[in-house]
Amino acid sequence: MTARILNGNDLAAELRAEVAEGVAHLAQMSGVPPGLAAVLVGDDPASAVYVRNKARACAEAGIFSETFNVAAESSQDDLHSLLDRLNADHRFHGILLQLPLPDHLVESSAIERIDPVKDVDGLHPVSQGRMLQGEPTFLPCTPAGVQQVLMRSGYDPAGQHIVIVGRSNIVGKPLAALLMQRSAGGNATVTVCHTRTRDLSDVTRQADILIAAMGVPRAIGADMVRPGAVVIDVGINRVDDATRRRGYRLVGDVDYDPVAEKAEAITPVPGGIGPMTVAMLISNTLHAAWVSVGQS
Ligand SMILES: NC(=O)c1ccc[n+]([C@@H]2O[C@H](COP(=O)([O-])OP(=O)(O)OC[C@H]3O[C@@H](n4cnc5c(N)ncnc54)[C@H](OP(=O)(O)O)[C@@H]3O)[C@@H](O)[C@H]2O)c1
Repeated sequence: MTARILNGNDLAAELRAEVAEGVAHLAQMSGVPPGLAAVLVGDDPASAVYVRNKARACAEAGIFSETFNVAAESSQDDLHSLLDRLNADHRFHGILLQLPLPDHLVESSAIERIDPVKDVDGLHPVSQGRMLQGEPTFLPCTPAGVQQVLMRSGYDPAGQHIVIVGRSNIVGKPLAALLMQRSAGGNATVTVCHTRTRDLSDVTRQADILIAAMGVPRAIGADMVRPGAVVIDVGINRVDDATRRRGYRLVGDVDYDPVAEKAEAITPVPGGIGPMTVAMLISNTLHAAWVSVGQS
């Protein structure tokens, strides 16, 4: 069997086009252009690329965006002051704080400083708590991107056994909460694995849908996958590659070629969940702008 490739670039383009339509509709109704403030702390090259991609997606959809570069050595207070200013700035309906932050800064405090009504990354405890309780809120972008890939590709999570490998606050934990909700796109039976899981392969082989979010290059081998499973690879890892101009290439957490021989469907890296994450961010920004004019 050679797996069907779930092309995140195509699915994200579909979603971005829907957002662009929504932006035009909002402008017609209220004259308000949605606005996103992106905060980039330090000079991590990968983060800079992600922020540029997000700014480009905003521009294409008609969303106003501005990137605020903060020096790597800035203090927590400096960062909080900027977030306070952006919270009060009516041009911006959403604030993206690009993670990870430099080690001396406390991510959780900075995330909590963002006004929940502008939390378009869906990482504020208020957003995450509301999601856990099944209340309307901003969904975290990567988990929501995974859910959209499944739904738009015809793999409804309802009733499926989904195994997630990874329990971070950004991906694994909120993804588990989202997929188990009693709502459209949810209703799965979810198992979450991590480094203390015993006999990981035994668990992953029970998955109808297997989601890798570990940050370990090619950790999921074909022996860990049930024939016919749907495999979603959230991982983005740089590995050395002397044949590439930049000296590295991106691979996922799944050993793609052998797993693609066994799975029914698989997301590639790059071109899988990454572009969907960006599309969900602009979708959330549009939603925040609708809320600001009294509609949701
Ligand atoms: N596509 C996107 O847009 C997007 C967005 C965010 C992240 N990512 C990528 O997704 C990956 C995960 O990101 P993250 O922020 O969630 O990473 P993280 O905070 O480092 O968490 C990794 C999780 O994987 C678990 N894990 C690591 N190695 C394992 C192993 N050998 N067996 C079982 N579990 C293992 C860890 O378990 P413990 O908790 O026990 O340590 C942890 O829960 C990274 O490659 C990241 O670049 C992609």
